[in-house]
Amino acid sequence: MAMAGYSLLHPSPPALINVNFQRSEFGHFHSSTTTHLLSSKSTTHLIRCQSTSTDEPKTRRKLLDNASNLLTNFLSGGSLGSMPIAEGAVSDLFVRPLFFALYDWFLEHGSVYKLAFGPKAFVVVSDPIVARHILRENAFSYDKGVLADILEPIMGKGLIPADLGTWKQRRRVIAPGFHSLYLEAMVKTFRHCSERTILKFEKLLEREKLHDEKTIELDLEAEFSSLALDIIGLGVFNFDFGSVTKESPVIKAVYGTLFEAEHRSTFYIPYWKFPLARWIVPRQRKFHSDLKVINDCLDGLIRNAKDTRQETDVEKLQQRDYLNLKDASLLRFLVDIRGADVDDRQLRDDLMTMLIAGHETTAAVLTWAVFFLAQNPSKMKKAQAEIDSVLGQDGPNLESIKKLEYVRLIVVESLRLFPQPPLLVRRSLKSDTLPGGYNGEKDGYVIPAGTDIFLSVSRSIQSP
Ligand code: HEM
Repeated sequence: MAMAGYSLLHPSPPALINVNFQRSEFGHFHSSTTTHLLSSKSTTHLIRCQSTSTDEPKTRRKLLDNASNLLTNFLSGGSLGSMPIAEGAVSDLFVRPLFFALYDWFLEHGSVYKLAFGPKAFVVVSDPIVARHILRENAFSYDKGVLADILEPIMGKGLIPADLGTWKQRRRVIAPGFHSLYLEAMVKTFRHCSERTILKFEKLLEREKLHDEKTIELDLEAEFSSLALDIIGLGVFNFDFGSVTKESPVIKAVYGTLFEAEHRSTFYIPYWKFPLARWIVPRQRKFHSDLKVINDCLDGLIRNAKDTRQETDVEKLQQRDYLNLKDASLLRFLVDIRGADVDDRQLRDDLMTMLIAGHETTAAVLTWAVFFLAQNPSKMKKAQAEIDSVLGQDGPNLESIKKLEYVRLIVVESLRLFPQPPLLVRRSLKSDTLPGGYNGEKDGYVIPAGTDIFLSVSRSIQSP
């Protein structure tokens, strides 16, 4: 899933985690293109890899921050028992990814603390036991809070911002759509789309060779985003954006809405809710016109699917010949399923949620994985050898990709080091007592209903 890009969906926005390798030059590596990860043809190219430096300067708190933190504490009812209070510099939201600041505060205040930030306050949790209490043991006592507030205008009642009743109902209908024959057909789609990306990379390499260039520069995260969006388009609603090779107006609009969502996640006053804002404020006009481009596209696809509906029981739907169907999409499944007559608006919300939630996380994980492999050529070779021996000449299918154990571990380790999304967002629906966490109060901390919580996944994983 993006907090304002998942940043919004999977609340780990470009604002919160920055994977675009832009700050300081990291070094030169051999044999490290994505092309080589997917197929180990023997050519060797020199690739430059740049990384985000972790030596970020600490931001200083200004007068404005102090004033706004005082206001925050006042508005949010002061302290939460003995919970430590961290006072964030508002500028932290803008000058560096938030997780750098979270790390500083974690060292200073421990694994459960209250963060006074502008006119808002959050409880920040960086402890696996407290996270389990919120996410698993008391999951229905929390909703998505700020994240749902920001995403609702885009995703309506899709799975991420949905209220509990809608979520339970739509999960029950959507989950059976991910059956094994569908997944098998999706592996075919992964292959087809990946080949387009590989072809694009090979053409780039070829062109550079012609110019006798020794390095090529690629924004891998952007490339993986396009790849993920193309796969989601085909897999979820049988629409080929072709965004790997050309600019798609719908995808441009998707990025536009995410950009706005990200802006909203860091803006103190929800001015976009003011009457007339959507007509008067240029960026709000742009947001609504982007939303219309996406909605028109999804509405057209839904109309088309409903016009060609073949109502069938779930069990029969799951046995269709997905590998040879012209339309193996999840939308087809959701429209054809007997007894689940769903209105167009809900279907559009479901599709919009997957479109937006799925690409940023996927791209970030793949980018980090390739980045780490680029620094470890021997591990890159080991991964290539596994791919060659397991997939052989036949290429991937559902059974064979399950045997790519080393590649799976690379993905899992990349997620451990840089979880996607790095932050989860929740709001308490009723009063609760959070466990104290590492070095915290033995009796825990009482929080009132309506408390906004950030769960720092990376800090929880690395908690002592
Ligand atoms: C490596 C890739 C991915 C990662 C690491 C990832 C991670 C996550 C996480 C951690 C959540 C839970 C968020 C929360 O509870 O606040 C989530 C939820 C979700 N993700 Fe992803 N995701 C990935 C790919 C995708 C893709 C490809 C799609 C869709 C095509 C998708 C759609 C969703 C949806 C719809 C939810 C909400 C599920 C629910 O609440 O029932 N994600 N994801």
